[in-house]
Amino acid sequence: MMQRTLAVVSAGLSQPSSTRLLADQIAAAAVQKAAGSAIELTVRVIELRDLAHDIANHLLTGFPPAALKEALDTVEAADALVAVTPIFTASYSGLFKSFFDVLDKDALADKPVLIAATAGTARHSLSLEHALRPLFAYLRATVVLTAVFAAADDWGADSADGPLRSRIDRAAGELAREIERRDPVSVTDPFALTVNFEDLLRNP
Ligand SMILES: Cc1cc2nc3c(=O)[nH]c(=O)nc-3n(C[C@H](O)[C@H](O)[C@H](O)COP(=O)(O)O)c2cc1C
Repeated sequence: MMQRTLAVVSAGLSQPSSTRLLADQIAAAAVQKAAGSAIELTVRVIELRDLAHDIANHLLTGFPPAALKEALDTVEAADALVAVTPIFTASYSGLFKSFFDVLDKDALADKPVLIAATAGTARHSLSLEHALRPLFAYLRATVVLTAVFAAADDWGADSADGPLRSRIDRAAGELAREIERRDPVSVTDPFALTVNFEDLLRNP
């Protein structure tokens, strides 16, 4: 099995959160689809609710506190990303946007990304297309064609084999195929020594 990592960013604020529920279902489907291509996906979930203060501090100071830095590094080092936001005022939430504002602008370049959202009403489903897709296009991510939207009504009793389930499966399959087509992500440390330290001392 090939080893790959999947970062999952969930921006839900409620506890329990429907956004987190959707994120978990998408991640599980992605793991299953990837396994079909002999890829073992390790999932790393990032709950933005827990990082809200850190994100505000980073915006004010320009420096990420340790927990936020770890989350940003996790996204950058991941082979793919699932990004899920609640719809607030017909768009992504401010917290969701702020996290991607403090992410390095090259961190998502050519990274497969699956976008998803939860909302109260299906009337705002196109927010995925007019808000999230342009955001990730700007960050030069490869956003898979199927976006997953779950309104309150989608969490009904038939959700095990309903339209939401088939949309999750389709999007997860597209994400798994993009992961399969790529080499694993390797992040180079800009501060890593590229020459032997003893040689440096000998030839200053
Ligand atoms: C401030 C605020 C604004 C919202 N705006 C919208 C909206 O414009 N359209 C919509 O369909 N739902 C809207 N909602 C409902 C949330 O999108 C919905 O409850 C979401 O699934 C909550 O996710 P969570 O359970 O992960 O917190 C809004 C909720 C809040 C708190």
